[in-house]
Amino acid sequence: MSLWNRHKVFEKNSIILIVGILVVIAIGGLVEITPLFYLKSTIEVVDGVRPYTPLELAGRNIYVREGCYLCHSQMIRPLRDEVERYGHYSLAAESMYDHPFQWGSKRTGPDLARVGGKYSDDWHVTHLINPRSIVPQSVMPGYPSLAKTELDPSDIVAHLRTSRAVGVPYTEDQIANAVADLKAQTDPDNPGSDAFQKRYPKALVRNFDGKAGNPTELDALIAYLQMLGTLVDFKLYNEKANLR
Ligand code: HEC
Repeated sequence: MSLWNRHKVFEKNSIILIVGILVVIAIGGLVEITPLFYLKSTIEVVDGVRPYTPLELAGRNIYVREGCYLCHSQMIRPLRDEVERYGHYSLAAESMYDHPFQWGSKRTGPDLARVGGKYSDDWHVTHLINPRSIVPQSVMPGYPSLAKTELDPSDIVAHLRTSRAVGVPYTEDQIANAVADLKAQTDPDNPGSDAFQKRYPKALVRNFDGKAGNPTELDALIAYLQMLGTLVDFKLYNEKANLR
């Protein structure tokens, strides 16, 4: 019996065809579902990646609330033109604490995955208040209200706790100090800023919006933008990768 004739068995008998379809779908399902049970070992642990500080997390919420992701992606693909323009391609570990991730696919503006440290805080203040004062042909909207709105600290503890429920390893210490840390990060003279930096290695402590007083939404958003893509030391990462 040729192969073709054997296939006819399926074509002529609907029950056998249904069983055949179910077997094929089950194999496809297993191939897709099984790896999810080994997710922990699938995501490579990379040195330097840490959970967001409370201020960065608040900034990230503002980023999502204002819909920045509708024009900006945060995913550098491993293609030559992208890597030359934006820097090292994105690693899965760099967004392992993102809930939800901000990879996106719409690029009306540039990718922001490595925008941290590219510009000064002043640049961001001016640009976020009125993008056209820096890039005259920009189509990005201005967000002047962020500079005038004080950050609401009331939900930050709950937010850290919720993040922990979905797998972000916040400690009790980090959760208990979340509100204090929110302020400490914008004020290098704050007595709590040393303890804050121990809790979040490599976090930037400075007055992001350049204005005295309580942290504003602009402080939070700039703190978030300035850390994007800066946690992993790619010189070390590549050296390790060569040893592997
Ligand atoms: C309507 C689309 C649009 C939205 C919404 C938008 N942007 Fe932009 N963005 C742009 C465009 C276009 C540029 C490039 C021109 C410029 O620099 O203004 C840009 C540039 C930028 C840059 C500079 C990037 C670089 O590498 O030069 C940053 C940072 C930025 N946007 C942040 C934000 C943030 C934060 C938000 C949300 C509060 C936001 N954008 C919302 C379109 C947008």
